[in-house]
Amino acid sequence: MTAANFVPTFPWIGQLTEDDLSTKRGFTFQYPPFPSLTEATEGKTTEEPPTGIYMHFPFCSYRCSFCYYSVALKQGVDAVDDYLDVLNQELQLVSTRTNLRDANIKTMFWGGGTPTYLNEAQLERVMQMAHEHMDLTGLDESTIESDPASLSSAKLQRIVELGFNRLSIGVQSFSSDVNAINQRNHTEQEALDAIEMARAVGIDNINVDLICGLVGETASRWKYSVDRLLDVSPEHVTVYLLSLRPKTALSSQIDRGKQDLPANEEVRINRFRGLRDRLLTAGYVQTTPNCFVREPRYEQIHQRNAWSSLPLVGFGNSSYSYFNGRVTQNVRSISKYKSQVRSGQIPAAIGQKLTAQDEIIRYLVLKTKLLSVSFAEFQDRFGFSLPNLYGDKLYHLESLDLLEVDESGYHLTPKGIIYVDDVCRTFYGNDVRAKLIGDGGSSRPSLLRSLI
Ligand SMILES: C[S@@+](CC[C@H](N)C(=O)[O-])C[C@H]1O[C@@H](n2cnc3c(N)ncnc32)[C@H](O)[C@@H]1O
Ligand code: SF4
Repeated sequence: MTAANFVPTFPWIGQLTEDDLSTKRGFTFQYPPFPSLTEATEGKTTEEPPTGIYMHFPFCSYRCSFCYYSVALKQGVDAVDDYLDVLNQELQLVSTRTNLRDANIKTMFWGGGTPTYLNEAQLERVMQMAHEHMDLTGLDESTIESDPASLSSAKLQRIVELGFNRLSIGVQSFSSDVNAINQRNHTEQEALDAIEMARAVGIDNINVDLICGLVGETASRWKYSVDRLLDVSPEHVTVYLLSLRPKTALSSQIDRGKQDLPANEEVRINRFRGLRDRLLTAGYVQTTPNCFVREPRYEQIHQRNAWSSLPLVGFGNSSYSYFNGRVTQNVRSISKYKSQVRSGQIPAAIGQKLTAQDEIIRYLVLKTKLLSVSFAEFQDRFGFSLPNLYGDKLYHLESLDLLEVDESGYHLTPKGIIYVDDVCRTFYGNDVRAKLIGDGGSSRPSLLRSLI
């Protein structure tokens, strides 16, 4: 998955205080964050082969009102084929300039948009292209994202034949009413059917995405949705707190008084905590602040590797890559992506070569999202003592009950799990903060300003 560029704000300049804590500043999944990247760079030459591959498919058959991803709607077969031609060219370009072919690739993730918008022949074609340019024989995990409306038994069967061993289904809510209010084009029954069809063709590692705090989500609808989730008992559950972004259909509906505001932050957090308690009581194990697995072996390897700063290469518009000490993001616009690749250029729009300090910060920002950071692993990787480098910050975060620090490392507390993205941002370098503060204040629209 890739996110739209969103400017996280820094209401605190110095030390984080209790009053600064908020869940509304967006999801941290990358460092340095995209809005702080500037250098347009090819960047894809490497001595360090990637272990993860991401492929992006920016297509959907409908637009959910809350969604901030850049997607093309209802594209015909020819338009998708045209995008796939270009994706193939990008694979070719990267594989001839790097040692991609020699890489021991462990995980592959197809995200979007909705990769299962592709028809069966297109899915097969992309898999063939991938095999042509990379050695995928050592894959431990291969995931495809989907929405229930795009799945059929035949397509799921083909997905298994193509070698995917993990399916992610965006359910968002098991309440048909909540989905309808949010312009989500499937009912509870269609979501349940999709899960059952996936099981019937032998997919035994299913992730279900839910969003907590959607418009129309009452306490009883939320409970209903969580009850259904536990009935279905998927191997992996991802719960997002609704992120209300500018330029979405939802924010404009609210601004025009056509839609209610979603539940406030306190309600949302309480619902999330209730879900967490129920999942833990049902035997789930928490692997990240918003992911839960039925058994530890279902932890998503792709995410663990990416958040452990293992090298990853992304293909497709807006995808990001981290390898050879460089972070890059491909151009977001589909048409610019196509024209750049067609003219023989690697389509990285922005990027940055990381300094040794950036690498340390990146490690802490992302590893914190895996709930604990080990002092010994940090010392092995960077040759420094983490308590010596960041002791003051860690003990300050501990004083806010966000972290627990012991001799082995630091661990997010239940409160730290809620405010994890604020915890991560406290590690950001001053250069990055300055860029974000510089951008943040003025470009934030009124709706968000009032909500934040
Ligand atoms: C690329 S989509 C997943 C696949 C498919 N397009 C779908 O929606 O079912 C990734 C996930 O992002 C989450 N998401 C999208 N917009 C969001 C928002 N505004 N706030 C929180 N989560 C969001 C949804 O849970 C969604 O399943
Ligand atoms: S189907 Fe998924 S990617 Fe497409 S608009 Fe809805 S949430 Fe966004």
